[in-house]
Amino acid sequence: METVVLIVGAGPAGLATSVCLNQHSIPNVILEREDIYASLWKKRAYDRLKLHLAKDFCQLPFMPHGPDVPTFMPKNLFVDYLDSYVTRFDINPRYNRTVKFSTFDVSKNKWRVEAENTVTRETEVYWSEFLVVATGENGDGNIPAVRGIETFPGEIVHSSQYKSGRDFRGKNVLVVGGGNSGMEISFDLCNFEANTAVLIRTPRHVLTKEEVYLGMSLLKYFPVTMVDKVVMVAAMARMLVYGDVSKLGLFRPKQGPFATKLFTGKSPVIDVGTVQKIRDGEIQVINGGIGSISGKTLTFENGMKQDFDAIVFATGYKSSVCNWLKNYEYVMKEDGFPKKPTPKHWKGEKNLYCAGFSRKGIAGAAQDAVSVADDIRTILATTKH
Ligand SMILES: Cc1cc2nc3c(=O)[nH]c(=O)nc-3n(C[C@H](O)[C@H](O)[C@H](O)COP(=O)(O)OP(=O)(O)OC[C@H]3O[C@@H](n4cnc5c(N)ncnc54)[C@H](O)[C@@H]3O)c2cc1C
Ligand SMILES: *[C@@H]1O[C@H](CO)[C@@H](O)[C@H](O)[C@H]1NC(C)=O
Repeated sequence: METVVLIVGAGPAGLATSVCLNQHSIPNVILEREDIYASLWKKRAYDRLKLHLAKDFCQLPFMPHGPDVPTFMPKNLFVDYLDSYVTRFDINPRYNRTVKFSTFDVSKNKWRVEAENTVTRETEVYWSEFLVVATGENGDGNIPAVRGIETFPGEIVHSSQYKSGRDFRGKNVLVVGGGNSGMEISFDLCNFEANTAVLIRTPRHVLTKEEVYLGMSLLKYFPVTMVDKVVMVAAMARMLVYGDVSKLGLFRPKQGPFATKLFTGKSPVIDVGTVQKIRDGEIQVINGGIGSISGKTLTFENGMKQDFDAIVFATGYKSSVCNWLKNYEYVMKEDGFPKKPTPKHWKGEKNLYCAGFSRKGIAGAAQDAVSVADDIRTILATTKH
């Protein structure tokens, strides 16, 4: 099959790119490995997930949220929004297609993409002038190598497979990772009466969602150092009332929260109630990393030993682009993230693009989609067809 633009991935970035291309009447096809669009939101997100960001940062091109939508949308409302988006713009991805291999064919000057049809098990070949990578920053769950992990008799899950604390009631559970997923999963486990411990290795800012919203709104107009000062004043005022969280093992980076995000990609943690549970002694904090595992017993880098029944790895994701995109070097580095800095990160060579890799969530994906479609339109308008 041949088309003008091939998009790999039907998450928010791929869907938005397709909609923007359709607005310019540019033919395009989306290939998606799952049997549904936005699989991260429909299949891989835990039950109690609320969007961490305010609704104005979680919308796609041509369809802003209405005034009656709450500022912080629960997952279901966002999924409903995506459903309406797909229906309204009549987007029809080709489902059950896992892209396995893509190369740029120099003689034809086109992209050649091989996808496995997971229903028939056949390999299908697609050709296109333009290729848009929209497989997401969260391609594969990342589980670090730990000595002795194979001897652990209990359940080991990655946060992307975690659904609810219901299955862990009464068990001793270790959550590895103090980012947004780890802190929220700890909260959820504790609510379901699991004996929960969270292992925190790197310092992180822990803010309220209102403080993050304040910061993100100010960032539109002010430099990041100034925004960080304002947000930290608000956070410090809160800590004067409720106590300093670093006493609880939640250490802060030296840089401000938005500078940290900008320079290291590590988002501030938005507290959903976990801090209160830590303060009340309902959730145990362990600082450092896992040294080794021997059966049920974990030995931590600080020398402490403790037994667990289950481990949840909230240790983030890695981009899986380089596994299937053989000529990734036209747009990506080896880690599957863009070579070029923002704002032109989305544009590669040989008509290769990426959308959704700016570490700016849904708003970033939406912006990329607009930029990519505009660029493709310009190229098509200036070359003879
Ligand atoms: C737990 C969690 C909470 C988050 N909360 C927020 C939030 O509140 N606000 C926010 O803005 N962002 C949030 N994010 C970030 C979020 O991932 C993105 O904003 C958004 O989903 C990115 O969209 P995307 O289309 O780039 O990637 P994805 O949503 O990951 O979509 C990629 C799609 O590509 C498909 N795919 C992958 N590989 C292949 C292949 N080889 N062949 C075919 N198809 C493939 C996948 O099945 C998937 O459907 C969160 C992320 C996680 C993990
Ligand atoms: C995709 O596969 C699932 C099961 O594997 C099947 O139920 C569904 O009908 C398939 N969808 C398409 C569009 O082929």
